Amino acid sequence: MASEHSTFPQFVSAGDILTDMIRTDVSSWLSRPGGAGWNVARAVAQLGLPTACAGSLGTDNFSDDLWDTSVASGLDMRFMQRVERPPLLAIVHKTQPPTYYFMGENGADLAFDPSNLPQSWMDRVKWAHFGCISLVRQPLGTTLAALAAQLRGHGVKISFDPNYRNLMEHGYEPILRNMAGLADLIKVSNEDLHMLFKGVSEADALAQIRAMNPQATVLVTRGSAEATLHVGDATYRARPPSVEVADTVGAGDASIGGLLYSLMARHGEWPDHLRFALAAGAATCCHSGAHSPSLAEVEELLK
Ligand SMILES: Nc1ncnc2c1ncn2[C@@H]1O[C@H](COP(=O)(O)OP(=O)(O)O)[C@@H](O)[C@H]1O
Ligand SMILES: [Mg+2]
Repeated sequence: MASEHSTFPQFVSAGDILTDMIRTDVSSWLSRPGGAGWNVARAVAQLGLPTACAGSLGTDNFSDDLWDTSVASGLDMRFMQRVERPPLLAIVHKTQPPTYYFMGENGADLAFDPSNLPQSWMDRVKWAHFGCISLVRQPLGTTLAALAAQLRGHGVKISFDPNYRNLMEHGYEPILRNMAGLADLIKVSNEDLHMLFKGVSEADALAQIRAMNPQATVLVTRGSAEATLHVGDATYRARPPSVEVADTVGAGDASIGGLLYSLMARHGEWPDHLRFALAAGAATCCHSGAHSPSLAEVEELLK
């Protein structure tokens, strides 16, 4: 039994698996498997921990791409469900600045059913991650919030990255408050803070998030500028390594993935974990698209 048990993932990212449709010309489009949650799962898997991305895909060509890329990324596919419903697409019709809308009415993602996950998976998983638009797509959002609460009750640590999107314009506050309250670790970018708490300074926005759960560790990333890690009354600061940037797609997802990996697999103090997270984010920027850096790539940047 021990060997069967040992094959369970230590890390599960739940939700936020989609296809980005990115306009490349007037009426030319590039499709890319994506989703913030899916990127975080791939980041942790690539760094070397047994990982799953939990969610539901359709049975269409886009979902096939997501499935195949997930397999190639080494994700535990027992956590990926499939139903005959339309795929979730993010239509990015302008890239500068990113301008997008989502398609996925009655989408396959909404059918995710945690009761069909492998038995007793919660006994082995150490951290679970939640965030982004899945939390505002009902009934999935309610399903995921309930799952996060159940996992927390089971002693699993919860990571949360709101990842502000335009769907969070109205009525998001209770969801933010609930998820922040369940979280051991919260990741926000300075832009997330700016958009989630409009008309408020960054410091006040951060104070509002922290007030929702003073026990939670909070990582604030600021692109190439100094990031901060807030643990209790302590604040740790570090700048990401400077790199030649191809693009910054998925940088935040790699940084929280890197932090989670470091907390699960590396010995060190908070400043070491922070530096590892920032190196993981920077490593992603060296490649176009949401590249998942290897451990060797991250370690090279830490030198
Ligand atoms: N221009 C950059 N140069 C180096 N690292 C970067 C750059 N942009 C982002 N990163 C890395 O990715 C992390 C997250 O980036 P950020 O833009 O703050 O988050 P998000 O992708 O969520 O908007 C940063 O803390 C840093 O480690
Ligand atoms: Mg982000």
